[in-house]
Amino acid sequence: MNTMKRSGTETAVSTESEVAARVETLLGQMSLVEKIGQLNQVGGVAFAPGPKAEDQIRVGGAGSVLWVNDTKRFNELQKIAVEESPSGIPLLFALDVIHGYRTIFPVPLAMASSWDPAVPEKSQAVAAQEARAAGIHWTFAPMIDIARDARWGRIVEGAGEDPYLGSAMAVAQVRGFQGSDIADPERVLACAKHFAGYGYSDGGRDYDPVYLSETQLRNIVLPPFAATVKAGVATFMSAYMDLNDVPASGNRFLMRQVLREEWGFEGFVVSDAFAVGNMLIQGHARDRRDAALRGIKAGLNMDMSSYAYAENLAELVADGVLSVAEIEELVRPILAIKVKMGLFERPYVDENRLAEVLAQPENRQTARWAAQRSMVLLKNEGGLLPLKTNLQKVAVIGPLADSMEATEGSWMVFGHTPAAVTVLAGIRAKLPQAEVSYAPGPEIRRDIPSWFESLMAGETLKPPQTAAEAEAAFQAAVETARAADLVVMVLGETALMAGEAASRASLDLPGRQEELLKAVADLGKPVVLVLLNGRPLSINWAAEHIPAILEAWEPGTEGGHAVADILFGEVNPGGKLPVSFPRKGSHAPLYYARNLTHSPEGSQMYNPRYWDGLPVPLYPFGFGLSYTTFKFSNLKVSAPQMKVGERVTVSVDVANTGEVAGEEVAQLYIHQKWGSDSRPLRELKGFERIALQPGETKTVTFSLGSDELSYWSTNANGWIQETTTFDIWVGGDSLATLHADLEVVE
Ligand code: BGC
Repeated sequence: MNTMKRSGTETAVSTESEVAARVETLLGQMSLVEKIGQLNQVGGVAFAPGPKAEDQIRVGGAGSVLWVNDTKRFNELQKIAVEESPSGIPLLFALDVIHGYRTIFPVPLAMASSWDPAVPEKSQAVAAQEARAAGIHWTFAPMIDIARDARWGRIVEGAGEDPYLGSAMAVAQVRGFQGSDIADPERVLACAKHFAGYGYSDGGRDYDPVYLSETQLRNIVLPPFAATVKAGVATFMSAYMDLNDVPASGNRFLMRQVLREEWGFEGFVVSDAFAVGNMLIQGHARDRRDAALRGIKAGLNMDMSSYAYAENLAELVADGVLSVAEIEELVRPILAIKVKMGLFERPYVDENRLAEVLAQPENRQTARWAAQRSMVLLKNEGGLLPLKTNLQKVAVIGPLADSMEATEGSWMVFGHTPAAVTVLAGIRAKLPQAEVSYAPGPEIRRDIPSWFESLMAGETLKPPQTAAEAEAAFQAAVETARAADLVVMVLGETALMAGEAASRASLDLPGRQEELLKAVADLGKPVVLVLLNGRPLSINWAAEHIPAILEAWEPGTEGGHAVADILFGEVNPGGKLPVSFPRKGSHAPLYYARNLTHSPEGSQMYNPRYWDGLPVPLYPFGFGLSYTTFKFSNLKVSAPQMKVGERVTVSVDVANTGEVAGEEVAQLYIHQKWGSDSRPLRELKGFERIALQPGETKTVTFSLGSDELSYWSTNANGWIQETTTFDIWVGGDSLATLHADLEVVE
C-alpha cells in the first residue's frame, strides 16, 4: 500500500479505484500548462535542444527527464518539481538501461541465446536494482523488435528472428525490470519498444521505411508486444519509421486500435527520441503544430524531447482544435503510474546507497552466469575444446581480444565507462603458470563513423592506423602466434558496429580479420576462434577451416571469465542461436519460418533460389553444440486427434549420451499442412533447457492448444484455429527430424 503526501493531505492508495480517484484529484488542481507538461519529456543534455530543464520543471512543464545519469542531479531536479512547481508532481527519470547499469550483462541477442528466460529475468532484475539506486525510475527496454535481417544493426538489442522465443524473452525482461509490482523500490518501469515493425526496415537499413502486411504484423511482429501487455508492462515506445507509409509515432492503428482497443493497454506510450517533431522531416506533418496534433490524435502520450507538444498543445486547445479532455485522457495513465509507483511518497533517491548497491559481488556473479549460459558453441572438430589448463604457451590474438568496449558491447548506459574482464584477461586468469602472449593485429573500424561515435569518446575517435602501421600489427600478430602452442583468435565487430545507426551491407568479418585468421591458421597450430559480435556473421571460411568456434556475442562485464570458463571446460556450453547465420549479407533476410512454395527443396521441380550460392544458413536457428551429445527419442502426442479448443501434450525423451554433464534445449516446431492460408514450414511453439548428467534421460513435455495452433489469417481476416493436420517435430535445433502428426477436428 502506498501513502501519498501533498499539500498536507495523506491518502492511502492501494486499489485501482483509489489510484483513479487520486489521479482525478490531481487533474482537478492542475492547470492546462501542467497537464501538457506531463506529456513533455525534457532532455537534460546539450544535444537535446529546448529550454533549460530546470526552467521547464519549475513551471510544471515537464513530466519526465532523460539522458541524465547523475544521482545528485536527480535529487536537485526532483526538488524543483516537488517543491517549486505549482502542483508538485514528481518527475520520472528515464534512461536506456538495456543490458545492465554498472554491471553489464550479455547483450539481449546473447541473452536470447540462452533459451532460458531466467537469464534475462535475473539480469534485468540486477540492472533494475542498480539503476534504481542511482535514481533512475524508467528504462527504455526491452527492445522486442523481431529481426530477420542480420544487416540491421539493432538486431543486437532484440531476441532475434522468432516471435515465440521473442515473446518469452520479452516477458522475462519485463518481469526482471518491473518485478511483480511497480511499487517495488528496487525495480524500474519497463518500456516495450519500438512499436512496431522497426526490425523490418527496407534492406535492413536503420530508420528506412517498413512495409508489412497485416499477416506479418499480427503473426510475427506484434506477438512479443501483446505478451508484454499481458505481463503488465508499464510503458511502450513508438518507433521512428514509417509503417506502411504512416510514421509509427503518429499511427492511430497501432496506438489506438491495436494497443488500447484490442489489447486493453492501460499504461502510456512515449515517442522515440524527437519522433514527434520528426514527423515534419518525414514528410507527414505540415509543421510542428500539425505534428503535435497528429501525435495526440494517434494516442501518443509523451513527446520525447522534440518539444512539439510543449510548444503547440495549449494553442491547439485555445483554437478549439483539441479539447482539454483529449489532453487529460493522455495525462491520466502517466499520473496513475506515478501514483502506483509510490513516487509521490518517495520522490528522492538516497545518495548514500548507490556505492553499496554497485559493489555487491553477487551482481558480477550473475553477470558471469548469464554470459556462460548465453554462449553458443558453433564448431568443435576433433574435440579440441575443452582446452587443458596445463598449456604452456598460448597466444591470444585479435583486435577484440583485450577490448573492454567490445566485451561489454552495444548500448552502454549514458556516461558509462567500459570496465570488463576481456577474453585475454579471462584466459590469463585461468592460466597463471603459462605464458599467455597477446597481439591485437590491425585495428578494425567502421568505413563511415556514426553520430554516436562523437558522443561516446572512445578508441574509435583515435586517428585511423596508417597502412604501414596496420601491416606491422598484422606481422606482429602472426609472429606472436608462431611462438605459441595454441592460438585463441578473438574476432568480430566493435560495439559501435552493431546497434542504432549501425547497419551494414556485408556480414563478413570487418577489416583484415579473416586474412589474419588465414595467416595464423597457416602456421599449423591448433586455433580456437572466439567471436565477439552483435549480429550473425558470414564466417564461411572459418566454419570450414577452423576446428573450434565459440559465439560469445557481446558478453558483458564478466565476459572474459565466462569465455575462459567454457574454453577450459569448467562450464559446458548450452546456448542456441536465436537467429539464422546467413552465408552472405545479400541472403538477408533469412529465417527458418518461411513458407513452403510450389518448388520446395527436394521436390522434382526444385529450383535453387540463387544460382550463385544456395541461401541455406551456415548455422540454422536453434543450433548450438555441447561438449556432450544428446539423443531425442520416444516422441508422443497424448492423442492423435484433438478438437478445436482442446489441448494435447507432446512428450519426448532426451538422453545425455556423452561423457560429461551438459544442457540441451528441447525445441518443438509445428507446421500446419493445409488450411485457409499457407503457413510456415516450421514454427517454434515450445522449448525447455534441461540439465542432464552423463547417461541420464529426462522426459520433456509440451502443451499444444489454441494459443499455439491459431494464427492471423489473410483469407479469414482474423484469428482462426482450423480443422487440419499438423506436423510436429521435436529436437535440438530447427532441423529436428523426430516427427509426429496431429489432427485437429471439429
Ligand atoms: C533510440 C531508442 C532510445 C532513445 C532514447 C533513440 O535514438 O531509437 O531506442 O530509447 O533514443 O535514448
